[in-house]
Amino acid sequence: MKKKTVACTTLGCKVNQYESSAIVQLFMEKGYKITDFNDYADVYVINTCTVTHMGDRKSRQLIRRATRTNPGAVVVVTGCYAQTSPAEVLDIPGVDLVVGTKDRSKIVDLVEGVGLEGNRPVNAVADIMSADTFEELPALVQNRVRGFLKIQEGCDNYCAYCIVPYARGPLRSRSLESVLEETKKLLDQGFKEIVLTGIHTGAYGKDAAGDLNLAVLVEKISELRGLRRLRLSSLEPQDADFNLIDVLVSSPIVCRHLHLPLQSGDDRVLGLMRRRYGTEHYRKLVQRLRKKMPGVAITTDIMVGFPGEKEENFRNSLNFVREMEFADLHVFKYSPRRGTAAASFKDQVPAAEKEARSMQLIKVGKKLRLGFMSDFVGEASEVLVEQPRSEDNNLYEGLTDNYIKMIFPAKPSLRGEIVKVWGKKVEDDHLTGRII
Ligand code: 5AD
Ligand code: SF4
Repeated sequence: MKKKTVACTTLGCKVNQYESSAIVQLFMEKGYKITDFNDYADVYVINTCTVTHMGDRKSRQLIRRATRTNPGAVVVVTGCYAQTSPAEVLDIPGVDLVVGTKDRSKIVDLVEGVGLEGNRPVNAVADIMSADTFEELPALVQNRVRGFLKIQEGCDNYCAYCIVPYARGPLRSRSLESVLEETKKLLDQGFKEIVLTGIHTGAYGKDAAGDLNLAVLVEKISELRGLRRLRLSSLEPQDADFNLIDVLVSSPIVCRHLHLPLQSGDDRVLGLMRRRYGTEHYRKLVQRLRKKMPGVAITTDIMVGFPGEKEENFRNSLNFVREMEFADLHVFKYSPRRGTAAASFKDQVPAAEKEARSMQLIKVGKKLRLGFMSDFVGEASEVLVEQPRSEDNNLYEGLTDNYIKMIFPAKPSLRGEIVKVWGKKVEDDHLTGRII
């Protein structure tokens, strides 16, 4: 019998990428063949994002694309947009099954049950706010040389702008044993670098009995033999305490790269956002990291146009961003999200103003990135060799531990290895270099 085919596409963050890998793996284990999302398939999985209205819009576009490519396919919509807006998704013609951010371990059975009794579309979205355990969804087959590993689910912070606690539910940490076991399996597969991901990774262990926390986890993973690099994907500024920083600094494998979402560089706006730190804490944290981890890349998320953000508050953000000398900046335009506190705040900022502020920050971000990279011209850095450049197969891409993309000539056999690369020249978003 001909194998059934499945195609999956992913929007949003690294957690979604991880979960898509896991979902694809579940289909493979049941004998499905994986195809490209643009090709004809029997089943399409769209793993959605809802962090801004753009996430919703792109999710809907991809759903429609799948229904056009094969009108007879089973179309499955999962992830954060599916979780928070199941009715909107069920209304799109051609959608057969909606699964939120829970019960993905059952996704193949759910797909195979669709249409058996003419009951489509099927709404399999569960109540996420009452979820109280971490759903194991291992992703051992990943299409890259850096392995992602999800260590927790959910968030209890309720920042005023953010829909994620409603999309992901409360904090649930994965057990230490399970994280270590998956790390070992990834090592067996040949991964040299592991990226710890989650929705609120800094809160890891706080829902568990005993003294489990992120610092303990990093220490335990660092003791495993064979792992060359451990990277944290994001860390809330209030969670980076002295103890954690000391553990990160003393681990021989933790990368000199921290993503510390700032959101605003103005204390009044941070208060309105219900963030749990001020600029003074943030400044001290960055100073400490720079002192203890020379060459560290500090990257951030920053939002413009939060309700009540006046020109003066935006100026403060701009100045603070310059002062922090971020290695990279992700700029977001505030997008009101249904059910969040800020959606009903007064003083919403006009779209044109958000656009103008975002452009200014993007420009500053670009300058800072070039500045950071140029510090490593004429220096040797360790690079994990990843994929070949599509335009020129003799050139490979890779990342330094402090998150600089390097492009350099290499042989295919070096893929997945860590090599020393001498930085030659800054070009757009990367450094060119040669192996030494
Ligand atoms: N509007 C715009 N950006 C948002 N983010 C989270 N919620 C919103 C929103 N409502 C951004 C934050 C977060 C990143 C993942 O998305 O900057 O760090
Ligand atoms: Fe998007 Fe946030 Fe969900 Fe990730 S957790 S997919 S960024 S809404």
